[in-house]
Amino acid sequence: MIIQENVSLKPYNTFGIEVRARYFKEINNLAELKSALELKGYPEIFVLSGGSNLLLTADLDRLVLYLNLKGKEIVHEDDSEIVLRIMAGENWHDLVLWTLERNYGGLESLALIPGNTGTAPIQNIGAYGVEIKDVLVRCHAMHVPSREIHTFSNEACNFGYRDSFFKREGKGLYIITAVDLRLSKKEHKTNVNYAPLKAELAERGISEPGIKDIANAVIAIRSRKLPDPKELGNSGSFFKNPVIEDSKYKELIIKFPDLPSYEMAEGQYKIPAAWLIDQCDFKGKRFGDAGVHKNQALVLVNHGNASGKEILDLARKIQAEVASIFGIELMPEVNIIG
Ligand code: EPU
Repeated sequence: MIIQENVSLKPYNTFGIEVRARYFKEINNLAELKSALELKGYPEIFVLSGGSNLLLTADLDRLVLYLNLKGKEIVHEDDSEIVLRIMAGENWHDLVLWTLERNYGGLESLALIPGNTGTAPIQNIGAYGVEIKDVLVRCHAMHVPSREIHTFSNEACNFGYRDSFFKREGKGLYIITAVDLRLSKKEHKTNVNYAPLKAELAERGISEPGIKDIANAVIAIRSRKLPDPKELGNSGSFFKNPVIEDSKYKELIIKFPDLPSYEMAEGQYKIPAAWLIDQCDFKGKRFGDAGVHKNQALVLVNHGNASGKEILDLARKIQAEVASIFGIELMPEVNIIG
């Protein structure tokens, strides 16, 4: 097995941060993954996939495995639905487009999310009121200590808001190799309740949207607000939307009557982190090559040659300001490595 040394990871992370991996191996099939995990005499492994939810802050003195497992197969099909097994290294947005071409419903709201299919369940990707958990039947993952493939039902994945078993207890223990998704072939159950999506469809004069209409509207909204990582390095939303208790909400709404919120179960409120950051006047600001996107305050961007450390310093500055003005602690959504 040939292992490369001192490899730049700039092409492998959507922030476009220049750091180097001490050792690097591209993984193209399960046998290679197994052999790589059995290698002796190398430092700790780090699994890299789409690199779209990652902030690399230092060179990695590790064995980086670049997961490039490809393939799609049909696990089950009848008149009304299809279950597809998608290998982890398939690009997510390409998969969404592929399903739409075949009129399979379920992924239309999740168009244009960067990254690969295998990492999508780790943080339970979501947009416009839909999450991958809504269509996921099961995940297949290699158990690192035994190199066996284990299967996790939807329930066993323990999904939450941008959260799953693989982000918590399973972290470092499992590598997702494939995902089974259940999609509809007719009578698609779509979700167009999310206000900005509703507005976009209304503007297009579409009253009974099909799955392609929804995907096109989502693509239009996202392209307006979120920068294309190929043009401007970024990792999507940098922070999670914080959830606050009723008492805290009551205190804030008196001081900030415009505070937007989504009421959740059990007297909790989800507050858009983008609004909090925007109120602190960070939107469009630039500190060297690290910045806050001009159209969406939740997205930190690399204007060219920012280091991971500079992006992290900016994130900390934002956290400190939001904490001092609102008394709310913002938690990063991206994985900070190094
Ligand atoms: N807002 C501002 N300033 C801004 C942007 C937004 O004040 O610069 C306020 C507005 O009041 C707006 C609210 O924030 O109504 C929410 O903004 P938006 O609808 O853009 O959604 P978000 O909460 O910022 C979340 C997800 C996105 C997902 C969108 C659409 C998280 C952390 N982010 O963003 O996911 O695409 O909803 O569903 O949950 C990602 O995870 O990387 C991501 C992009």
